[in-house]
This record gives sequence, C-alpha cells and structure tokens, in this order.
Amino acid sequence: MIYLDNAATSWPKPDSVWEAVMHVGKNIGANPGRAGHQMAIDAGRAIYNARVAVARLFQFPDPLRVIFTLNATDALNLAIFGLIKPGDHVLTTRLEHNAVVRPLWILQGRGVEVTYLDGDEYGRISPEELKKNRKANTKALILNHASNVTGAMQDLETIAKAAKALDLFVIVDAAQTAGVFPISMASWGIDLLAFPGHKGLLGPQGTGGLCIMPGIELAPLRYGGTGSQSESEAQPLCLPDRFESGTPNTPGIAGLAAGIDYIHQIGREKIEDHETRLIKSLMQGLSELKGVRLIGPPVEEARAAVLSFTVDGMASEEVGFLLDKAFHIAVRTGLHCAPVAHRKSGTLTTGTVRLSPGVFTTKAEIEEVLASITQVVNEAK
Ligand code: ALA
Repeated sequence: MIYLDNAATSWPKPDSVWEAVMHVGKNIGANPGRAGHQMAIDAGRAIYNARVAVARLFQFPDPLRVIFTLNATDALNLAIFGLIKPGDHVLTTRLEHNAVVRPLWILQGRGVEVTYLDGDEYGRISPEELKKNRKANTKALILNHASNVTGAMQDLETIAKAAKALDLFVIVDAAQTAGVFPISMASWGIDLLAFPGHKGLLGPQGTGGLCIMPGIELAPLRYGGTGSQSESEAQPLCLPDRFESGTPNTPGIAGLAAGIDYIHQIGREKIEDHETRLIKSLMQGLSELKGVRLIGPPVEEARAAVLSFTVDGMASEEVGFLLDKAFHIAVRTGLHCAPVAHRKSGTLTTGTVRLSPGVFTTKAEIEEVLASITQVVNEAK
C-alpha cells in the first residue's frame, strides 16, 4: 500500500508514538488531575510534557494555555464560538474548510456578519484586502495557513502582522501545516492557533488543540468536572481547566508528545524540505500528462504537501477507486469537506483527486504513483 492521504491523517506513525500510548495505558493509566496518588501525578506529568512540547514547537509562551481538544475542528469551534458574538463582523477566506465555514454559518444566523475575502487567483489574501474590508465592528480574521484542497499557503506572518495592526484577533487553522512548516505565534501575532494532533504532528487520532495567547478571554464550549475548585458550581477561570472539562485522552496526548519529539529528532526543516520535494516531483510528473489539470499555485510557489488534480472525462472518485483497487494507492477524492475552496478553484461539481505525501513517503513511491496515474489516464482515453 502506498499511502498518499496524509492531509486527512498521517500514516504510518513513528513506533515511538505507539510505544508512548502503550506505556501510558499500561503503566500510568490513571485519571490525571483527579487524585493525589502517584499514578495520577504521573499521568498529569505526561499531559504537561505534551503542553510544553506543543508550546515549544509553535513558539508559544505559556504551556498552561495549550488546550487539548479532540481535533482541529473541535479547537476551531472553541475559538470561534468562544470569541465571536452577535453584532461582530469576521473576515475569512475562500480557502476555508467546513471546520470554519459551518461554525460561521451558524453564527451568521445569530447576527454575526461574515466577509469571505476573494484573495488572488489561488485565494491568498493581502494586507491591502484586509484593510479595505475592515469595518468598525470587525473583530477577527479567521484563516487557514494552507488549503487542504489546493495546498495554497497564505503568507501567514505578513497577514497576521497586518491583522494585528488593524486591531483584529487572528485565529489560525494550522491543520495542513503544523509540524511541517514554521509557525511562530509570539512573533507573528497569532492569537488563537488550532492544530490537529494526528496529521503533521504524527500523534494518534482523537488529539488536537488550541493555543490561546495570554490575555485572550473565551467562553468555554463545555462545562463540567476539572478536578479543581470542585466546591464551586462555577467553571474555574484558570487555564487549562476552564476549557478541559472531563477526563482527557491521556494515552493519545502522550502519543502526540512522542510525535512532536520525533519531529525534533528528524528536524522540522528536513521534513518540510522532504515533503516539498515530493510534491514538486508529483507536480512535474503530472503536468506532462495530457488531460490532467493541476489545481492550485504553480510549482515554483509555496504550497503545503497537498496536490489536487482532475482528469478529463473521469470522475475523481473513479480515479481514486482505480488507484486503490488496481495499484494499492490510497488517495482522497471528492470535496475534502471544503466546498468553498472547491468553488474558488472551479472544481465544486467535479471534486478532485488529492495526493498528500508525508514524512514517511519515499521518492520511489512517488515514481510508482506517477506511473500508475499515467496508466489510469492513458487507459481512460
Ligand atoms: N480535513 C481532513 C482532510 O482534508 C480530514 O482530509
């Protein structure tokens, strides 16, 4: 099996990730923060270590403000519903995933105004466009770092700094870049960063988080037991407890910390370089095939390790089915939960075939994938 669906979830994971999950589950599987016995303390330490690893990776100042969630969608829900109130105006982009689009749609029904910025041909926005669309009630800019459909990357540092200069909160969906591309919350001016644990960070599914910059107040999404201030009916104000009610996914979070450790061992820059080379090889190879249309920015421009394409005369599902059944190549097809980005790319009715290599994808696998797609396309003619 050649796995090219890392944009959905990374696979395989490093062995050390599963070893950490097993270690916590088998040896310190108590409920963290709920008791004073040694196992509970050890479980709490495992989670704290993960907070420290996340904070270090994103150059974020306070590990206690790293909130663990189910995934990036859950983190975005906390950020969006926690911050945006009726009467507010929000700027966002035409590259967003439904994890942003659907919460905003609900909020539009509750009196929130939303402007989708067109950006350039590939949906990348500019400081000028932000300035032009900012209004007196504009509260926040919500954007992904890279599109999960086209791979197009926003110039996040420039855009976040420009949004801060306009006094906007900056909420970033780092689903396709966390662990692979550099992100500096502190120096770029990102207020809220939502990340999945199970993609570029190489952790298990069921992990993710939201980094909340000091000084930012959010309303919790969930209320309940935190193991702290139990005498009070009110939700604690201190973080992370305010946003982490209920028993956490301790084994998964320990696995996530091991995933981040693995990234540091290899070197994030090396992973970025590896995935960039693979995606460029795919683009070069596929651009030579007649009837194949590549979606997103050209090969010389920045892109996350995501490549979507269409094949004339074939449904994207058909291409994906043939790649899976005849060649054992796993890709994702269709709309990738991001119809707004497909509309911008002109692929809303066709969908696309999406290839997303990861840290363990090899050059030989990419060559095999190119040969297989060539066969599928030629047989379709
Ligand atoms: N959002 C994930 C994807 O793009 C699941 O496939």
